[in-house]
This record gives sequence, structure tokens and C-alpha cells, in this order.
Amino acid sequence: MDADPITQFLLWQKDADAYDRTAAVLATCTNNIPYARTVLVKDVSADGFTFYTNANSTKGKNLFDNPKAAIVFYWNERQVIGRGDIFLVDEKEADTNFAYRPRKSRAVTTISKQSQELVSETLFLSEVEKLENSSDPIRRPKHWVGFRLKPHTMEFFLAGEHRLNKRYLYLLQSDGKWKISRLYP
Ligand SMILES: Cc1cc2nc3c(=O)[nH]c(=O)nc-3n(C[C@H](O)[C@H](O)[C@H](O)COP(=O)(O)O)c2cc1C
Repeated sequence: MDADPITQFLLWQKDADAYDRTAAVLATCTNNIPYARTVLVKDVSADGFTFYTNANSTKGKNLFDNPKAAIVFYWNERQVIGRGDIFLVDEKEADTNFAYRPRKSRAVTTISKQSQELVSETLFLSEVEKLENSSDPIRRPKHWVGFRLKPHTMEFFLAGEHRLNKRYLYLLQSDGKWKISRLYP
């Protein structure tokens, strides 16, 4: 295992046998109530794991309320868990990410009130179509934001036969170095 968990993560992610190796389950917690859902992690670096979402969605509200989260990647016999603090991605970076999306996705993102009750799908789709087919530029709406989870803990799990799994725990020390230990399976 590499001394740096992000380097190790990127090695495993590159090799991952998965339909979408960027997909991960993001867990949040508000008022002692846990929530979890899948997101696509668009960037991984020493700064952490970056994903995009609607600031007014349940997860968005959770993350503003309690900016701590856990993220779980599952790739067949491997699992990586990161836990840490949440930071908002700066506006320029979020703009760049949004600009790469297809026009229809940008229209849906702009119109969608993610996680609120959808009373009329017909009305929603007609609003999307109207915006998509307009000549207006579709820039990132203020409600579409990036969050970055900067891990202080990472755990790598490698399944073995007869439950002889290997688990490696990385803990960030106060001097900025990572301490690696093994855990019982
Ligand atoms: C494979 C997959 C990838 C997803 N990626 C995202 C994503 O990157 N951002 C997002 O807001 N929702 C994404 N979703 C939808 C979320 O899982 C979730 O349904 C939605 O964001 C609302 O969650 P919330 O109500 O907890 O905020 C994805 C769903 C799946 C199945």
C-alpha cells in the first residue's frame, strides 16, 4: 500500500472493475438522522473528493447544516471509505464543470428542484424543453454547487477467501502525515 491514501485510491480506481468507477455512496448526518445516496465523484486530488449537486437538495441542506460526510466506493472485491470535512468548491471551478455538461443536462439541472415534490412531470418537462430550445446561454445556476470531501480517515478493504479480508486504515496526523494500521477483518 502506498504511504499516501489518495495515491493508493487512484491506483485502485484505475484498476476498478465497475460499471462506473466514479460512483460512490455519500453519507450525511443531520440532527442525528443518517442519510445516504449515490453521487458521481468528478475529481480526486490531495484536496479530496469532489462531487456536484443541488444546494437545496436534502444532501445539500445536510452538508451546509453539518459539513462532515463519509463516502464509500465499491468495486467488486474492493471497498474504499473516506471520512472527513466538507468544503464548497469555488465558483470558477463549479462554472467550468457545469460548462462541460450537455445542454439538455444543464437545462434539467437549472429547472429541477432536486429532492422537492414533483407535482407535474409534464410541466417540468415542458419547462426543460423550453429552456433547452431557447437561444439563451445556460450558465450554472446558483443552486448547482460542488462539494469537496477532504478526508482525515481512509480505509481500504480487499476481500479475501474465507473472510480473510485485508483492511488498511489511514489516519491523518496533526503533522499532516498519514499513519497506516491494519484492522482485523
Ligand atoms: C449512479 C448515480 C449517480 C448519481 N450522481 C449524482 C450526482 O453526482 N449528484 C447528484 O446530485 N445526484 C446524483 N445522483 C442522484 C442521487 O443519488 C440522489 O437521488 C439525488 O441527488 C437526491 O439526493 P438527496 O435527496 O439525498 O439530496 C446519482 C444517482 C445515481 C444512481
